[in-house]
Amino acid sequence: MCGIVGYTGAKEKKEIILDGLKELEYRGYDSAGIAVLSGDDIEYFKAVGKLDNLIKKTENFQSYGPGVAIGHTRWATHGKPTELNAHPHLGKESFVVHNGIIENYKEIKDELEKEGIAFLSQTDTEVIVHLYEFYLSQRLEAFEAFKKTVGRLEGAYAILLISRSAEGKIFFAKNGSPLLIAPDGEDVYFASSDTAVIGRAREAYYLEDGDYGYAQMGDILLYNGESEISPKMKPLPANVDTARKDGYRFFMEKEIYEQSIVTADTMLGRVLDSQINFEEIPQGFFDDVEDIRICACGTSYHAALTASYLFERISKIRCSVEIASEFRYKEPLLQKKTLFISVSQSGETADTLEALKMVKRAGLKSLAICNVDNSSIVRESDVSILTRAGIEKGVASTKAFATQVLTLWMLSLYLAQDRGIDSQILSKEIEAMRHIPVVLRVEESLHQKIHRLSKRYLHGHGFFFIGRDLFYPLALEGALKLKEISYLHAEGYPAGEMKHGPIALADSELFTIALMPSTILSDKIRSNVEELSARDATILAISAEPFDIADDFIAIKHDSHPMTEFFEMMLVTQLLALEISVRLGNDVDMPRNLAKSVTVE
Ligand code: AGP
Repeated sequence: MCGIVGYTGAKEKKEIILDGLKELEYRGYDSAGIAVLSGDDIEYFKAVGKLDNLIKKTENFQSYGPGVAIGHTRWATHGKPTELNAHPHLGKESFVVHNGIIENYKEIKDELEKEGIAFLSQTDTEVIVHLYEFYLSQRLEAFEAFKKTVGRLEGAYAILLISRSAEGKIFFAKNGSPLLIAPDGEDVYFASSDTAVIGRAREAYYLEDGDYGYAQMGDILLYNGESEISPKMKPLPANVDTARKDGYRFFMEKEIYEQSIVTADTMLGRVLDSQINFEEIPQGFFDDVEDIRICACGTSYHAALTASYLFERISKIRCSVEIASEFRYKEPLLQKKTLFISVSQSGETADTLEALKMVKRAGLKSLAICNVDNSSIVRESDVSILTRAGIEKGVASTKAFATQVLTLWMLSLYLAQDRGIDSQILSKEIEAMRHIPVVLRVEESLHQKIHRLSKRYLHGHGFFFIGRDLFYPLALEGALKLKEISYLHAEGYPAGEMKHGPIALADSELFTIALMPSTILSDKIRSNVEELSARDATILAISAEPFDIADDFIAIKHDSHPMTEFFEMMLVTQLLALEISVRLGNDVDMPRNLAKSVTVE
């Protein structure tokens, strides 16, 4: 996902923009740029690759005094990662940064080229600045020209535009991609995510789709459609350090260790002594719900798949799970009595968001399980339950997954309460649930053991993570974690399916990570693993029960309930992926080719 930062005021601008972009680095990008307008001075810089390259280019540049500045980190969608394609894009006297996709850019570009306007880049974004200057040339006043420009755009966008024709102003517009405004006295900050402005302002307005306007020296003029509106400010997190590493090697490592704490936050006020309570859910919301359809991508899809077992087994409600990028184009048969649940850490994943909009048009009720308040998916859903994982900066999701599964488990119990769950069963579930923060405490001995073990898993022709029932989605997730940050091939597979083909791959170079719970189908999973071991596959067994035919064995302790085994095995697979990746020397937090939030199709 691209990162956007903007500032209008009299402070030194370069540092404000670069510091903001640094906070957004984790979202993944391949080029960056900054533009500054102060009085008659126009300066801009662009660089391909990491932000350090841009910092080097601007080391002798500073800009004090009243003015405006915008910055951007780009994740290439239209056009390769080159300086020409990097934002800001410029016209004769204006600059624009943009996140999203302008779907009708070709039509606009053709029109403008017929007017003799030359384009430098292959991007969709560049049409914005040229269209703005074209309307200026038609004698429109600057804000009118900007408004008309935005009116022509189709697709998703978060835009900041500055121009010599509008001294001291930053024009903004938002539709489908996140953007916030954070005023602080004479200063006004903009960003695509609040980590970039924490510590500079105390509150922010998270723009809604269709919002546009401009800011100038502390004043904000905000419109939606034809009507002027006043921004509804919300408090920003006070401490930026909560979003930064504190002593860990990587954000991902920090976030694995944080799982014990944040799962306690997730349960706060919701897991009571003998019942589950969600204030967010209005009375009667589920009354006419006959079945559930969950939609997500990536790790969130694995949380959704886990939940499908819980909804059917505990809540006794039919549940199907869909990969968002498939669901939105398969012309699904939808019925109004289906509850549509979207699961998303960022709340900005384009495929999940579009799937949600599709079912809303069909009149279904929608509920979001999300980690980012005010995100697009949260705002688009009828009801949202925040997972309270805190800011997750590692691209490979860990604590967000843990809190998603926990929240969905809570929701399955909440639904079961309305469907007459036996009180004994409910209290056993709640007892196990309360134990999860303890289960997720990382013991040094475990981490050290996995660190030592990881040296044996740096080669081979691939990994199979296998599991059954609830542990099948966990096997998918373990494989994804490893793939994402080690770049080694790994696949999650239902253990019972190995004999239907994949077992042909079994030999000593095939690493099988076997999730072997003692609470669910333990005999079945043991025999599946024995079949593999008999064909000389290298087995790493994760289990509470010793398993002597395994080549390696990691013991878990909390085997009193399937979900305590689930969370402890999740922790083991996360640490295994981390330690293998570290040994391979990879960038654990920003793995190649990946972005933290995939806001494009
Ligand atoms: C998870 O480790 C990945 N980074 C990725 O699969 C992610 O889960 C997926 O892109 C969905 O993102 P979301 O949860 O923000 O919607």
